[in-house]
Amino acid sequence: MSSKKIVFSGVQPTGNLHLGNYLGALKNFVSLQKEMNCIYCVVDLHAITIFQKPRQLEDNVLETTATFLASGLNPEKSIIFNQSSVSGHAELAWILNCVSRIGWLNRMTQFKDKAGSDKEKASVGLYIYPNLMAADILLYKATHVPVGADQKQHLELSRDIAQKFNKDFNCENFFPLPEPLIHKNISRVMSLRDGTKKMSKSEDSDYSRINLKDSADEIKKKIKKAKSDSEPIPSDIKSLQNKPEALNLLNIYSELTKNSIEKIISEMAGKEYSNLKTKLTEVLINEITPVGKEIQKLLKEKSYLKNILKKGTEKANIIAEENLKNIREKIGLI
Ligand code: AMP
Ligand code: TRP
Repeated sequence: MSSKKIVFSGVQPTGNLHLGNYLGALKNFVSLQKEMNCIYCVVDLHAITIFQKPRQLEDNVLETTATFLASGLNPEKSIIFNQSSVSGHAELAWILNCVSRIGWLNRMTQFKDKAGSDKEKASVGLYIYPNLMAADILLYKATHVPVGADQKQHLELSRDIAQKFNKDFNCENFFPLPEPLIHKNISRVMSLRDGTKKMSKSEDSDYSRINLKDSADEIKKKIKKAKSDSEPIPSDIKSLQNKPEALNLLNIYSELTKNSIEKIISEMAGKEYSNLKTKLTEVLINEITPVGKEIQKLLKEKSYLKNILKKGTEKANIIAEENLKNIREKIGLI
């Protein structure tokens, strides 16, 4: 078995990338570039499992690409491309639809959340979406997958599918079992309005999230309005157990300043949350607004962005075709 480490991850082009995407996924993508071969994909085929307006989808693919670059991904080091331009993803997804089990998919909590109360009306694509995700990863025989905590269950399914394929076709170690790389401290950034829900693109209120394109003023307003707690900051972390909004603000501050939450609490114990909010606003503005400005700048250079995707597609296709050839052979497809 090859011991080469290959990283794969994907982000859906559904607009409005936010602080959760940035801290939970993108920052990790960037640091992995230094040590491993990385492939980062704008997963447009995943996005259409829920209806997308065609022109808006096109714009969002370019905006997600711009966000990758603005966050620090380097197209000379990493392969950056969009999923639908490498047809191997759809082909392998079909094959894996035949390996994956209905019982496994029935356990996926994200489908239950996204499909809502009327599951009969959800697209079939939304239901089998985790099989496509497994195909994305296995198409490149990726060994490591940086994601936020919400994707852990999908990653476990990818491992089950890889294992079953290797067993069914009698080819031990053919597909490596992909390892999730989930940020230890900040695997789930929560909504600023409800600390029990994750920060999300689809939440109605824009006050629930910090978008990467937000201006300094917007960041200031959102943090000012964010829920915290009426009591002062406690001196021990246990007292924050039932205060998810306060804990979330402290976690974000801890991640951005690279100080442990214990250290922050010990320095700020007894102070009002408005104190923390002032400091948090400042570090957020310093970190996020340069990324937003770079996104806006790159969005004016559409042909440059398209060219990055085109070059990435060419590189991805070579790996995908080589692996697919072996996959077809294992199955007996001639
Ligand atoms: P998505 O925008 O759903 O395609 O997610 C892209 C990446 O961001 C995935 O790795 C997610 O797990 C991660 N992510 C999305 N929302 C959050 C959040 N609130 N906290 C941490 N990671 C997140
Ligand atoms: N499902 C992931 C999300 O919604 C995106 C994704 C698609 C992905 N394919 C992937 C992530 C492969 C990691 C690896 O966030």
